[in-house]
Amino acid sequence: MPDLQVLTKIFQQRFHSQPDVVCEAPGRVNLIGDHTDYNDGFVLPAAINFGTYIAASRRDDNQVIAYAEDYGSVLDRFSLDSIEFNTSQMWSNYLRGTLKLLQQHHNEFGGINLIVTGNVPQGAGLSSSASFEIAILKAVVELYQFDIDGVKAALIAQRAENEFVGCNCGIMDQLISALGLDGHAMLLDCRSLTYRDAPIPSDLEILVVNSNVTRGLVDSEYNLRRQQCEQVAKIAGKPALRDMDLPMLEEVKQSLTRVQYKRAHHVISENTRTLAALDALSANDIGTLSQLMKESHYSLRDDFQVTTKELDGLVEIIDQVIGQSGGVRMTGGGFGGCVVALVPSTLKQLVIEAVNSQYPKRLGLSADIYQCQASMGAFRF
Ligand code: GLA
Repeated sequence: MPDLQVLTKIFQQRFHSQPDVVCEAPGRVNLIGDHTDYNDGFVLPAAINFGTYIAASRRDDNQVIAYAEDYGSVLDRFSLDSIEFNTSQMWSNYLRGTLKLLQQHHNEFGGINLIVTGNVPQGAGLSSSASFEIAILKAVVELYQFDIDGVKAALIAQRAENEFVGCNCGIMDQLISALGLDGHAMLLDCRSLTYRDAPIPSDLEILVVNSNVTRGLVDSEYNLRRQQCEQVAKIAGKPALRDMDLPMLEEVKQSLTRVQYKRAHHVISENTRTLAALDALSANDIGTLSQLMKESHYSLRDDFQVTTKELDGLVEIIDQVIGQSGGVRMTGGGFGGCVVALVPSTLKQLVIEAVNSQYPKRLGLSADIYQCQASMGAFRF
């Protein structure tokens, strides 16, 4: 975590005054349930101890002056009276979009000075953008003293990403960044937006391993997967894939292309696995959890086709060490990024050594390993 005193000091240097608030919002790792959120399904993520940090103060005018410390203190300045897309500084569009969408719900805020920094690895599938959006909302509601709850914050942030930034993501990342609970994962129903906390057994460590594969074509492939899922639901006459089980899929199989069938097969079976994983986690049944995570990875590899050979390789390397005593799978959107492993503390060192020695030999790359703790969401209390 960045030193908050350092953050305050940088703020003083930039704005010659003290920040009124310093706040943070976490990134996330998803334990199981990928590509289910935009199908109204179930996910089981945890917020992590890597996040976005903002120091901010109120202004008397309607201006926003923002410095992104991680891009060499680059400055963006705009008026709240007319928030436009910034074609030269992409990072700023998360800020602009979030404030623009917030304006549609709450008008009672004015100008802001802010600096932002973070330690969520970018482009790794750990939701650096959702944590930025949620941190912005947290800063504004603290500065201007109004109330929104975590679900509402998540919906505003998701709309900012969908409607302003242009990524058609689901609600998982924003919701867990807002509502995570330390020591817990969260089963989230992406239709009703209700959730259940699921304690992570204290003898299991969360290791997130970054394959360091640059995620190419992510947005277009992501949006394509989403369309394919929606097409199947439409053909079946259902509101979403959430409303289907595997026998129903078989009934419409003749009307589907092979690819559509595979996409839907992943989502429908992943929803079942995610609910089963919640039960396994709650019962401390690690053998079952292990099997479910393995099946999830295979389904994302074979049916949804969003893994890479590097992600598959990392899963194999880690699985050989932990077997049924823990679980491992790719996490997030795919096409690169990270795998998540739930690892017994006693095997942690062996996993790290196996990754560090075998991954470069097999895949010609080196991996980064993050030891994560399930952490608090920004709007939890
Ligand atoms: C990305 C999106 C999420 C979710 C995952 C896949 O992280 O932002 O909404 O769809 O991919 O589970």
